[in-house]
Amino acid sequence: MEKTKVAIVGLGTVGSGVAKLLLDYGDRTARHAGRTLWLEQVVVRDVTKPRDCELPEGLLSADLARITSDPEITAVAHLLGGLEPARTIMLALLESGKDVVTANKALLAEHGPELFDRARELGRSIAFEASVAGGIPIIAAISQCLSANQILSLNAILNGTSNFVLTQMEEQGISYAEALAAAQRRGYAEADPTMDVDGTDTAQKLAILAHLAFGARVHWRDIPRQGIDTLDFADMMYAKELGYRIKLLAVAELVNGDLELHVSPTLVRCGTPLAEVRSAYNAISVVGDAVGRVFFHGLGAGQMPTASAVVADLIDTVVGRTAITFRTLELWSQREALVASREHDRTAGRFYMRFQVADRPGVMSEITGVLGRQGISIASVIQHEAAETDRDVVPLVIMTHHATEGATRRAKEEIDRLPAVRPGSVRMRVRD
Ligand code: NAP
Ligand code: HSE
Repeated sequence: MEKTKVAIVGLGTVGSGVAKLLLDYGDRTARHAGRTLWLEQVVVRDVTKPRDCELPEGLLSADLARITSDPEITAVAHLLGGLEPARTIMLALLESGKDVVTANKALLAEHGPELFDRARELGRSIAFEASVAGGIPIIAAISQCLSANQILSLNAILNGTSNFVLTQMEEQGISYAEALAAAQRRGYAEADPTMDVDGTDTAQKLAILAHLAFGARVHWRDIPRQGIDTLDFADMMYAKELGYRIKLLAVAELVNGDLELHVSPTLVRCGTPLAEVRSAYNAISVVGDAVGRVFFHGLGAGQMPTASAVVADLIDTVVGRTAITFRTLELWSQREALVASREHDRTAGRFYMRFQVADRPGVMSEITGVLGRQGISIASVIQHEAAETDRDVVPLVIMTHHATEGATRRAKEEIDRLPAVRPGSVRMRVRD
C-alpha cells in the first residue's frame, strides 16, 4: 500500500493520543486514507520527559529540522499550545512545504490572518478541526455540511475545563480549586488554566466559529466575556432553586442584521439540552435558516477525543480534501466582514441579579425603584432570612423579564451605590 510520511510536533496530551492512533490503529487510517499514514518523526522540547505513549526507536527528537528538511514528510500535526514558539514553528513548517494540522485555537484566534495568508501564498493548507470543541466535528459541520444555510444563531458550551469544574462543584460538592486541579490532572486544561476559566479560551473558539458561520472578522479580545473564575457557589444554589444550572455559554446570534457576541456564565433552564451537558462535554446548538435547529454534543477536551479530530484532519490533508476546502473557504482572508457586531449594551434577554442588602424597611423599594427607572420589569424575587453568621444582611435575588445589557448594567451600578447595599452584587444572563 502507498505510504505517506507524516510527523508530529508536541507529544503532550493531544500529541500522545495522535501517536497512539497512528501507530496502534494504522489499518484504520489506511482504510480511510487509501494509504498508510507513516509516522516518521516526533519533535518535542525535552526528549528526557516520560511519555504517555511508546514510540519506535529513533522517532523522538528535539530537532525541528528533522521534519523541515525531509521533503518526504508532507503533513505535520502541530500540537503545542500558546503563541510562541507555536507561531514560528507553524511558519517554519509551512515554509518548508508542509501542510499543517493544528489544535491551537489561541494561535489561530491571535495570528490567523498572518498564518492563513502565508499558507495561501505558499500553496499549503492549515486544518484546525480540533481547535474548537475537541472531538465534535463542528468546523466541518459549519463550513461544509451546513453551507446551504444562513446560520442564525450559535449557543454553545466550548470549554471542557469550565464545564467539568461546574459539574464537579454541583454534583460532588467539591471546591472550585479541587475541581480545577482534577481537570488539570485529566489533561483538559491549558498549560495556563487561567485562559480556561476566565472565558478567554471560549472567546477564542467563538471568534473562530463566528468567522466561519457569519463571515465576522472579530478579534476574540473584542468579544465581551466573563468566566467562571469569579462565580460564587451561592449563585449555583439559587440557580438550582429557580430551576436553572449555570453554564459558561458562548453566544453568536444575528439580531436585525447585526451579530450579537458574548461569553458569560449564564443560568440555563434545567431540562433544556444545553443545561444537561455534563463534565468535560461540549455542545453547540446551531440554528440555520434551512435546516432549523441542529444540536452537536461530545467530549470537548481530553486526549483521545481531540486526537480523533486531529487524525481525521491528517487523513483529509493527505488525500487532498483539506486543500480544496482551504482554497474555497478563503479563511481569514482580508475580505471585508459580512456582518457588524451588535453593541453589547443593546443586546437583550432575561437577567438574574443578586444583592447583599441591609435587613431593614424600605430597602426593597429603593432597589425596585432603580430597576423601574431603568425600565426593567421584575419576574420574581427570592429573599431568604439572614444567615446565623450575619444577622444584618440578607441576600436578595431578582429575576427580570426581558431587558437590555445596558439597562441592567446601569441599574446594578446604581444599586451598588445605595448605602443599604453591600459589595459583591451579581448579574448574570438567563437562557430559558
Ligand atoms: P501539552 O500537554 O502541554 O503538550 C504540549 C507539547 O508541546 C509538549 O509535548 C511539549 O514538549 C511540546 N512543545 C512545547 N514547546 C515546544 C517546542 N519549542 N518544540 C517542540 N515541542 C514543543 O498540550 P496539549 O494539552 O497536548 O495541547 C496542545 C494543543 O492542543 C494546545 O494548543 C491546546 O490548546 C490544544 N488542545 C488541547 C486539548 C486538550 O484536551 N488537552 C483539546 C483541544 C485542543 P515537551 O513534552 O517536551 O515539554
Ligand atoms: N482547555 C480546553 C478545554 C481544551 O478545556 O476546553 C479543549 O480546547
